[in-house]
Amino acid sequence: MKETLKQIISSLEQDLKACEKEADILNVKSKYLGKKSELNTYLSNLKEMSTEEKKVNGPILNQVKRELEKLVEERLEQINNTEMISFDDTLPVELEIGSLHPITIIAKEVTDIMKKMGFTVISGPEMESDYYNFEALNVPKDHPARDMQDTYYLNNEMLLRTQTSGNQIHAMENYGAPLRVCAPGRVFRNEDMDACHENTFFQVEGMVIDKGVSIENLLYVMQQILSELFQKEVSVRLRPGYFPFTEPSYEMDMSCLICGGSGCPTCKNSGYIEMVGSGMVHPNVLKSGGIDSEEYTGFAFGIGLTRLAMMKYKINDIRGFNSGDLRFLEQFDIK
Ligand code: DAH
Repeated sequence: MKETLKQIISSLEQDLKACEKEADILNVKSKYLGKKSELNTYLSNLKEMSTEEKKVNGPILNQVKRELEKLVEERLEQINNTEMISFDDTLPVELEIGSLHPITIIAKEVTDIMKKMGFTVISGPEMESDYYNFEALNVPKDHPARDMQDTYYLNNEMLLRTQTSGNQIHAMENYGAPLRVCAPGRVFRNEDMDACHENTFFQVEGMVIDKGVSIENLLYVMQQILSELFQKEVSVRLRPGYFPFTEPSYEMDMSCLICGGSGCPTCKNSGYIEMVGSGMVHPNVLKSGGIDSEEYTGFAFGIGLTRLAMMKYKINDIRGFNSGDLRFLEQFDIK
C-alpha cells in the first residue's frame, strides 16, 4: 500500500503541474481526494480493518491525505497569483474617454464670457449659514420672502444654500468696492421634481459695484452675456419682480428656444422662460457687505444655469442632469 500511496502523491504532483487554471486544479483535487478517489477507497476500507491494522494504517492514510491537500492548496495559490497579473496583451483596447457634464460646459462658457467683461470668478460654500443665505441679503428671520425658497436645514444650524446670492456678501467682505464678480454654483431647494423642477440645480451669480452704476449697465451686461452665449440676438423681456436683496427688482425672461416661442411644457406654454433674477443692490445688502451705499451703487443678478443649459442644448426634462444616465450625458460629448 505504501508504494501505491507514494505513486498517488507523485501522480497528483504531475497532474497539478499540468493545470493552467483554477478549474483544472479543482478537477485534480476531486480525482485524488473526492469520493471516488483511490485514497478514499483506502480510507473507507479502514472500517473493516482490525484495531491493530487501523492503528498502523489510519495515521499513514491521513498523513497522505493532508499531503495531497497541501499540494493542491499550494498550486491553487500559485495559479491565483499568476492569474491576477496575466493578461492577453494582444486584445484590442477600446478607450472610453469621458465627456464633460453639460452644466460644466455651460458654466465655463458663461464665466468665460463674463471674464472677458472684467468679472472675477469666485466660489462659495454649498453648506451655508443662515446669515449669508438670508439675513445679510435683507431677509431677516420670519420674513415672508423665505417662503419663496424651500430650504433644506441641516442639524448643525447650517443649511444647504438655496441661491448663489450669498456669494455677494462673501465677495463684498473679501474684496470691498469697486467690485465685479461672478459665482457659479450648485444650489438646493426642497421642491417636488418634474420636467422643469429639480431640488438640486445650478446658478451663476453676478455682482457689479461701482460709482454711478445703473440699470442701463445691468441690461447691457445681460444682453451681452446671452447673445454671446447663444451666438445670436436672443429676445428677452423684463418684468418687474420682487427680491428682498434688490430694489428695484426685475425678472428677465428669455424666449423659449425649445419651442421657438410657440409654447411647450418646458416654458409652461408661455413662450418665455424665466432665466434671470436681477436688480439694483439694496442699500441694506451693501451695508451688510460693509460698503457705503451713499458712495457706491451696484447691480446683481442670478442666472439659472440649469435652465440656460436646457435652452442651449434643447433639453426638455431637467431630471436628466442629475440622473447619472450615460445615455443622457454622452450627447454632450465634448472632449
Ligand atoms: N437668488 C435669486 C433666486 O435664486 C435670483 C436673484 C435675484 C439673484 C435677484 C440676484 C438678484 O442677484 O439680484 O431666485
